[in-house]
Amino acid sequence: MIIEPRCIVAPSILSADFSRLGEDVASIAPTGAQWVHLDVMDGQFVPNMSFGPKTISDIRECSPLVFDTHLMISSPERFVTQFAEAGSDIITVHLEATTHLHRVLQAIHDEGKQAGVSVVPSTPICMLEPILSDVELVLIMSVDPGFGGQRFIPSSLEKIKALVAMREQHDLSFRISVDGGVNERTYSDILSAGTDVLVVGSAFFGAEDKSKFTAMLQGLEY
Ligand code: DX5
Ligand code: ZN
Repeated sequence: MIIEPRCIVAPSILSADFSRLGEDVASIAPTGAQWVHLDVMDGQFVPNMSFGPKTISDIRECSPLVFDTHLMISSPERFVTQFAEAGSDIITVHLEATTHLHRVLQAIHDEGKQAGVSVVPSTPICMLEPILSDVELVLIMSVDPGFGGQRFIPSSLEKIKALVAMREQHDLSFRISVDGGVNERTYSDILSAGTDVLVVGSAFFGAEDKSKFTAMLQGLEY
């Protein structure tokens, strides 16, 4: 009997060691995690900076996994082509970072990539209603974006449940991803709320045994 993982695990390389980034990216696939989460920060939309398309392009050859790019940048429409050409498979933009959201999502699809939309913890889920039929992924931020290792904001659970209900109501099939404060204490409630994808940064890279940790999140024997 083949047992399927109950969720997709997407380790965030924000918590990797950037002095050996290629090796850390290469180490993700053997753990059984399915995606690589790439946190791009511009120092304007969020109070931190990380990396850009050049880094993604350089590490693309280090992993066969899905590259899940999370753009925490203002006016992301300026960079859709660069992040697509760098090797992203999914490009997620923030609802709060652009005015013409349909146009950005269309640009991502025009590049042949999957499109995602994300909201910060203080943005109500109902704001997403007009664009839900235009995305393959909704990324619920469960911390204020900008840094790894922050504490999960519990009200995120209600947002996940509301989004599951909206997906059902509109007969849609986008995936629901949760990002921020996912760890061995919080993951169970997050999955019970209806999450499909767990983004996990500090808890993954800080785990003693990354394969065991990944299997635990996926509900698989180890
Ligand atoms: C935060 C980023 C997250 C972050 C998660 O702004 O979007 O992806 O790396 O880190 P943890 O899992 O440590 O909260
Ligand atoms: Zn992220």
